[in-house]
Amino acid sequence: MIKFAKFYITTPIFYVNAEPHIGHAYTAIATDILARWHRLKGEDVLFVTGTDEHGEKIEKAAEAASKTTKEFVDEVSATFKNAWKKLNISNDDFIRTTEERHKKIVKEIIEKVNGNGDIYKGFYEGYYCTGCESFKTETEIVDGKCPDHPNLKLKLLKEETYFFRLSKYQDQLLELYKKNPDFLSPKFRAPEIINRVKEGLKDLSITRQKLEWGIPFPLDESHVTYVWVEALINYISVLGGPNGKLFKKFWPADVHLVGKEINWFHSVIWPAQLMSAGLELPKTVFSHGWWTVEGQKMSKSLGNVIDPVKLAEKYSVDAVRYFLIRETPFGEDGEYSEKKFIERINGELVADLGNLVYRVLSLAEKFDGKIEGKPELESKLDVKKIDKLISEIKLTDALLEIWSFIRATNKYVNENEPWKLKGKELGNVIYNLLETTRVIAILISSYLPETAERISQQLGTKPGTLKDVKFGKFAGKVKKGKYLFTKIE
Ligand code: MSP
Repeated sequence: MIKFAKFYITTPIFYVNAEPHIGHAYTAIATDILARWHRLKGEDVLFVTGTDEHGEKIEKAAEAASKTTKEFVDEVSATFKNAWKKLNISNDDFIRTTEERHKKIVKEIIEKVNGNGDIYKGFYEGYYCTGCESFKTETEIVDGKCPDHPNLKLKLLKEETYFFRLSKYQDQLLELYKKNPDFLSPKFRAPEIINRVKEGLKDLSITRQKLEWGIPFPLDESHVTYVWVEALINYISVLGGPNGKLFKKFWPADVHLVGKEINWFHSVIWPAQLMSAGLELPKTVFSHGWWTVEGQKMSKSLGNVIDPVKLAEKYSVDAVRYFLIRETPFGEDGEYSEKKFIERINGELVADLGNLVYRVLSLAEKFDGKIEGKPELESKLDVKKIDKLISEIKLTDALLEIWSFIRATNKYVNENEPWKLKGKELGNVIYNLLETTRVIAILISSYLPETAERISQQLGTKPGTLKDVKFGKFAGKVKKGKYLFTKIE
């Protein structure tokens, strides 16, 4: 098994211009699964998330809501925090870019970058997309619009600005991608970044003049720091900065999990900033795909935004977690529809897992003989393979592997027909089923933490870690509870 002594993983910090939807939840859930799996392996894990609260987009959203920007960001940030709690996201910290601890480190890093001669004053003329909070080059503009935000008008900026010498890092970045093939993950997303970097990098404008809501630029307070440049620093400000205790223990990040649309910022700008500040580089930036709803981009104006909390309240938290990771191979794009969602619940959570646990516990509760025997299902399980898949962030493949073990166990019940057995033979089958169910609870615990806990409770066993994924004596006291999942008509 691939073991890290420490494991530092992050989600991007979420914009607080609107409340969380399933796209945001997707990033958070996937990161949570990785964090939980590494904890299960006994590693020292740090998992952080938070909110990105500056910039024009947020300033405008507050205005539209007739609130002060501060009031507005406090409210929306809290909805993310609460949503993550509801969805069982096990983050260790939650950082907000409006916090002093963040601003302090932003200042420190920008001064370091400046000390390295990488910041200079100039003049910027070009287009800016408020939706992306980013500058757009001619080649990125299609029919006068940002293809990702066709409803927004591009803004023509003509202003004095400070630049970061991004161009200086072109060769070092290419070297990084070459030497560390895992840095750009998954592999199929690497060529796009590499080709763009090869085409040449322009220096990056890192301040805005006509903006109120942001961190004053440490080198000249008549400017505001460009939101992306300060937001990326969250990954180290949450560690207390380069001199922080947590930094010494956890930096560099093992995985920055992000959506594909922000890969560039994480795979190009962020490492260049770190190189300039003389800091170590993260090991992996993994970009996942995007969710659409019935074929369309989720948007307030289309009224098709899926609220993950409401969905969890209607079905269950674990149904949401399961669907998002199972429906589409992790890394690729996915399409949500309630019909598909219900099909997954009924066909897999109810029919495979829920049914198995209910059958096993019903048998065990009725049986008054000795529950003992020889392990017969161990060979159907390949934990090393599951672990390898999760280490490679193949979250869907790993889940499928766990599921095939669940299905093999159901098959074992059908083939052994325990309802026809008695005495020692029945004791042996029940022993196998209880031990297997206990092991399944451990294996699914990163994906479906609530369900895993309920299974452990019904089995009367402790939840356990990966070390407990071996077949020993069954030592629980079974008490069958309610069905884990109910069929949706
Ligand atoms: N604030 C920036 C990140 C700064 S990190 C230094 C940002 N925020 S975001 O709120 O727009 O996106 C946060 C995460 O949610 C990203 O990983 C993004 O890919 C994800 N998603 C937002 N909408 C999504 C979908 N429709 N589908 C899948 N994930 C999407 O970008």
